[in-house]
Amino acid sequence: MLVTGKEILAHADEHGYAVGAFNINNMEIIQAIAKAAEDLQAPVILQASQGAIKYAGIDYVAALGKLVAERTAVPIALHLDHGTDFEEIIKCIRYGFSSVMIDASKYPLEENIARTKDIVRIAHSVGVSVEAELGKIGGTEDQVHVSDAEVTYTDPEEARIFVEETGIDSLAIAVGTAHGIYKGEPKVDLDRIAEIDAAVSVPLVLHGSSGVPYDTLRNAVARGIRKINIDTDIRATFARTVGAFTKEHPEEIDPRKILGPAREAMSETVKEKIQVFGSNGKAWK
Ligand code: 13P
Repeated sequence: MLVTGKEILAHADEHGYAVGAFNINNMEIIQAIAKAAEDLQAPVILQASQGAIKYAGIDYVAALGKLVAERTAVPIALHLDHGTDFEEIIKCIRYGFSSVMIDASKYPLEENIARTKDIVRIAHSVGVSVEAELGKIGGTEDQVHVSDAEVTYTDPEEARIFVEETGIDSLAIAVGTAHGIYKGEPKVDLDRIAEIDAAVSVPLVLHGSSGVPYDTLRNAVARGIRKINIDTDIRATFARTVGAFTKEHPEEIDPRKILGPAREAMSETVKEKIQVFGSNGKAWK
């Protein structure tokens, strides 16, 4: 069942867990996530980046996302990840996404507020939820790149002002995680999560969560993280499984035989995350 981002995160907030937000790039990934969510009765967020939409086509992404939400007996939100382009964000709303992210984090605070407010006004007028980012999260997520030198942690007082002025439904924060593969072990500023959570009224979002030790993720949830983004770990499972299969069966040319095991393996990766986030068994009717 398709629900809004606000609804799914309000439930997580009320029950003290985090919803897994998994990036989608093709049909197999979407099915893998839906199967994991249904098997574990976990609410889940399917999120597409502008890059994924460019690759698959917005009509395909929206149709697949809505179909899987209809067919799967758990709450599912269809979300735009890192929307940096005004037209792209509006297009997602028009195509039936139930949640969008406006990422204007590269601009100074006032401009971030102004750009975010524009999207909130439009999205809320048609019942779509809005996530925005304050601070600068490191690494590369498709078209968004932030170098180590540009990383800026979220300031709790600025977060309070940002949330009050924009009217957003959830806030992505920079606390030491980064998109992509980590070189060393990430150091997450858990105290900062608690400080931001105390300063704002909306659920908090952790990006760059692949490769973060599970204890750290559990501690982040205990301090107020309610949405955890995972892309890289699913990609890695996909690449590893397809690579191993084609190495073992170099004569195989049937895409179903090559991609099928990857779909199963990705589902297992998603299940592992869901259990760490505490969202298993939290689906409601
Ligand atoms: P990872 O690259 O760590 O999976 O993060 C994904 C993400 O935050 C998407 O917005």
